[in-house]
Amino acid sequence: MYLKITSVVKLDFEIISNETINSTNLYAYDLGKLGKRNKIVVSEIQTHGKGRLDRSWFSNKGGLYFSVLMDIKDVGKIEKINFLGSISVVETLKEFSDKNFEIKWPNDVLFENKKICGILTELNVCNGYLVLGIGININNEIDSEIKKIGTSLKEIENLKFNVDLILKKFIEVFVKNLKLDDELILGKYKKYSKTMFKDVNLTILEKTVTGKVVDISYNGIHIDTGNYVEVFNVGDCIHLR
Ligand code: BTN
Repeated sequence: MYLKITSVVKLDFEIISNETINSTNLYAYDLGKLGKRNKIVVSEIQTHGKGRLDRSWFSNKGGLYFSVLMDIKDVGKIEKINFLGSISVVETLKEFSDKNFEIKWPNDVLFENKKICGILTELNVCNGYLVLGIGININNEIDSEIKKIGTSLKEIENLKFNVDLILKKFIEVFVKNLKLDDELILGKYKKYSKTMFKDVNLTILEKTVTGKVVDISYNGIHIDTGNYVEVFNVGDCIHLR
C-alpha cells in the first residue's frame, strides 16, 4: 500500500524593515546568497527601485515596496511565482477597496487601465532561491510623468491607508495561496486577468507580435496571430482594445 503524501507549505516570514535602501530586491538577493530564506525585506523609500525589462521603479514615500525571499522548492513549479504574486496583490487590495482590480499579463495590477502595482521576480537557480519583488502605490504621490498610466490606492479611494496593515494582509493571503494546487492558482489568475481574450501587441526585444490572446498557461501567453498560435513567456504586452 502506498501513502500519497502531499507536501504542506508551512512558512513563517521574518520581516526586515528599512527606511531607505537602494532596492529591496537587491537586498533580498544578497541575503539569498548568504543562505538566508523566508525573509521579507521592506523599505519606505528605494533609491534604485528596479522594474521589469531593465526599467527603474519610482519609489517615493507612502508606497509599499517589498521583496519576498524564498527557496524555489517551497514554490514548486517556478512559473507559478508571478501568478501567485499578482493574484495575492489583487486579493489583498480587495480587502481594502471594493473596486475592480485586474491583472495585465504578466503581472501588472491595474485599476481602470492604470497601473497600481508592478512585480519583478528574480531567480538564483544555482543557489535555489527566488526574490519576488512587489511595489504597490498606496499613499505615495504618482510622478507627474506617469499620472496618465499610474494610480494609487489613495487616489482611487480618496483615503490614506496603513501600509503595514496592507503588507500583513498580503502575507496572510500569499501564504494561503501558496498552498493551492497549480490549477487553482491558474484559475484565479485567469479570473482576474484583463489580458485574456484581448487583442494585443507583444514586444520581445525588437520583434512585435499582434494577435488575440486565446489562453494563458504556465508556459506563457497564447496569441493567435491569424495563422497560428504562438506562446510567449516574456515580453511587453499592450492591450489594443
Ligand atoms: C515593473 O512593473 O516593472 C516591476 C516593478 C517592481 C518594483 C518592486 S518595488 C519592490 C521591489 N524592489 C525593487 O527594486 N523592485 C521591486
